[in-house]
Amino acid sequence: MSADVYNIICVHLSSSAVKNHKSSILAIDIMKYSRISETEKLANSWETRLYLEQLVTPSVPSEMSGSDVINGLSQHPKSLPPRYFYDDRGSKLFELICELPEYYLTRTETTILQECASQIAHLTGPAEIVELGSGSSTKTRILLDAYSQLGYPLRYLPIDISETILESSAYQLLTDYPSLEIHGIVSTYDLALAKLTPSPLPTRMICFLGSTLGNLNPEECDVFFSQIVGAMRLGEYFLLGVDLHKSKDILEPAYNDSQGVTAAFNLNMLQHLNRLFEGNFDLTQFQHWAFYNEEFHQIEMHLQSRRSQTVELRGLNLTVEFEEGETIRSEISRKFDLKIIQEELSRRGLVPLQVWTDKNHRFGLMLSQLQSKLG
Ligand code: TRP
Repeated sequence: MSADVYNIICVHLSSSAVKNHKSSILAIDIMKYSRISETEKLANSWETRLYLEQLVTPSVPSEMSGSDVINGLSQHPKSLPPRYFYDDRGSKLFELICELPEYYLTRTETTILQECASQIAHLTGPAEIVELGSGSSTKTRILLDAYSQLGYPLRYLPIDISETILESSAYQLLTDYPSLEIHGIVSTYDLALAKLTPSPLPTRMICFLGSTLGNLNPEECDVFFSQIVGAMRLGEYFLLGVDLHKSKDILEPAYNDSQGVTAAFNLNMLQHLNRLFEGNFDLTQFQHWAFYNEEFHQIEMHLQSRRSQTVELRGLNLTVEFEEGETIRSEISRKFDLKIIQEELSRRGLVPLQVWTDKNHRFGLMLSQLQSKLG
């Protein structure tokens, strides 16, 4: 990937020094930051504790050139890359999903973390916490509390594709943790992993929570693990949260909530495409459809056309025909077997140190350590 495609912007707030100033976004950001810093006047000024880096910018959506949309919509069956869920509205809807009564995943993982965070901190010692897909960083607070209770220095590298969510959660964290240092990266996982520089702390723990691993197909999962191992040094840690195999009576409601939030989240992808690529998807003519595919142990989420229709995405020069009932697959959410995933990690030199689950064995959290680079 060429450098001009990714238009890297760095804002180091302590010195207000600007590196690689290639975009007007930068000026806006600095104004925004200095305005807040004047009004908030925190004792331990957060400007010196925040470094924000942007590897993907909204003005240069290099990762969103649309070739993947053309590809997905030209195939049979049709599909769309899940990354298009996450515009600002999508990220907010996702936060709402996490609080739904039917959506047990976030709650269960949080409960597990509350029980094991202190053990994790003891096992790793002082460590920089890197989080892939940090979102609102709610669960991270549990880890930060545990590290802080042991008197460890707090350094956090949240990585998220939504600048808005990353920024606002960073401000909140800096307010709540007066000694915390944050290096936030607005980016996709692969770019951010490829750019990680060594941690100033003795070690690092990369966290991948929320069973986001399940949203990758087996091939993508393979590539992802290689990228993780590639970004790690020997002795560093990987904390992985995965949703486990279970009955579809529990699984299906989690992705078909009664308030229709998951449906709105799914449909929002079409709205996002309309905006990005001058499309004319009529959101009233598609419906959310999610079911558990027992053979593949995965939830599949689709957008189903309510009638035969033609959709245009002028920005991509693309015309797409839909038959009545035809679907676009927008997401998979694979469910895992703890033993199999542990074996997979071990094969890559990531030796599982400890595994935690809830009392109903719905969700699993695994801490592993890179003990050898096996490939
Ligand atoms: N990784 C979580 C899961 O698979 C969260 C998630 C990702 C999700 N995409 C989603 C939840 C789409 C609902 C709908 O459950």
